[in-house]
Amino acid sequence: MEKLVIDGGKRLEGSLRVSGAKNAALPILAASLLTAERVALGNAPRLNDIGTMLKLLRGLGADAVDDGNSGIEITAANLSELRAPYDLVKTMRASFLVLGPLLARFGGGEVSLPGGCAIGARPVDQHLKGFAAMGAEIGMRDGYVRASAPGGLRGAEVEMDTVTVGGTENLMMAATLAEGKTVLRRAAREPEIVDLGNFLNAMGARVSGHGTSTVVIDGVEQLGGTGYAIMPDRVEAGTYLIAVAATRGRVRLTGVDPRTLGAVLERLMVAGADIRTGKGWVELDMRARPRAVDIETAPYPGFPTDMQAQFLAMNAIAEGDCRVTENIFENRFMHVQEINRLGARIELRGRSTALVHGVERLRAAPVMATDLRASFSLVVAGLVAEGRTTIDRIYHIDRGYEAIEDKLSALGADVRRI
Ligand code: UD1
Repeated sequence: MEKLVIDGGKRLEGSLRVSGAKNAALPILAASLLTAERVALGNAPRLNDIGTMLKLLRGLGADAVDDGNSGIEITAANLSELRAPYDLVKTMRASFLVLGPLLARFGGGEVSLPGGCAIGARPVDQHLKGFAAMGAEIGMRDGYVRASAPGGLRGAEVEMDTVTVGGTENLMMAATLAEGKTVLRRAAREPEIVDLGNFLNAMGARVSGHGTSTVVIDGVEQLGGTGYAIMPDRVEAGTYLIAVAATRGRVRLTGVDPRTLGAVLERLMVAGADIRTGKGWVELDMRARPRAVDIETAPYPGFPTDMQAQFLAMNAIAEGDCRVTENIFENRFMHVQEINRLGARIELRGRSTALVHGVERLRAAPVMATDLRASFSLVVAGLVAEGRTTIDRIYHIDRGYEAIEDKLSALGADVRRI
């Protein structure tokens, strides 16, 4: 199994181009099932999760061509299967996003239940509640969710019980081809939802209010092919800003949209970073030891759960004490135990709070990645630790971070894969 070896203690400095957003690309790829015509995507990141989604689309019978760079073309003229199998869904929950498009265009679909995952239960009840409100029949058999609406979906008013990114996306996609108007209340407002809404509109859908908590979709007869460039990855951007800040470094990020990074930039400034932004770029300069900063995760525009672990790693070497509160997922502190192996002093209080007592320095040790974002927190810790840190199970990192060794090396880090 591949490992990452980091010789820590180097200040990161340089410039970096941010990749396209994984969390926008996945729903957009699923949405390409909504049309028989060709969809051409640009700025797609090269990641294992994208590979998993392409495998799923091909398994359904779509034609998916990856140009080996950042272009992907999908044509889902005729499908041979309407079922997303367990072996793909279990490696990536976002596979569940094909159910909305299958139901909308083909009147039915079957997707394996995602089941438990490393960061908590993560149910899909809100997706199913919305499909049912639109007239779909929902059943479960042998671990699969089966949804059917042979006569087509009808527009509906859906008030979600919890703010869910994937649920909002699945229902938006389903509603594009439903008869009449759908109103989604308590919708998630993440920038990736805005990107999906813009993509759907480029295909001929009539979506409005995306980016607010009420999304309105007027159903249309059919959607057509289009070209579309995927938005920049705000999680990758924020992750590198945090990593650089933790090493007291300096960086210029390009290919990024600073407007999507508000909460993270604000917390980094409180930690002591100098930050400048412009259209398509962000610069960060951290001259002193970071100050400890409380963070509390929340749906957008709050502090993203996907950057909690990385920020916590920076807090581990910051000056002072702070509290990190995780409100989105249960059990998303598995990195704490690993970071403590490097000499950090982090105490868990219940399932949603970590008290961080900043220490001057960390010392290298072997550690193990537990989930996608948590694994980058170990990279942050390894970059600041004295000595050689080895991170095991880095397949988690490759799900969501493109060319991590190349990008870190370009900033002067000493990182290799073995
Ligand atoms: C997406 C992101 C993930 C991010 C998360 C929260 C993608 C591919 N993944 O995941 O990186 O961490 O948003 O920002 O975009 N919930 C329910 N019932 C449901 C659906 C969700 O109770 O039907 C709960 C979940 O258990 C969780 C919370 O709602 O506690 C948020 O989950 P959700 O926003 O749906 O996350 P994902 O879309 O899976």
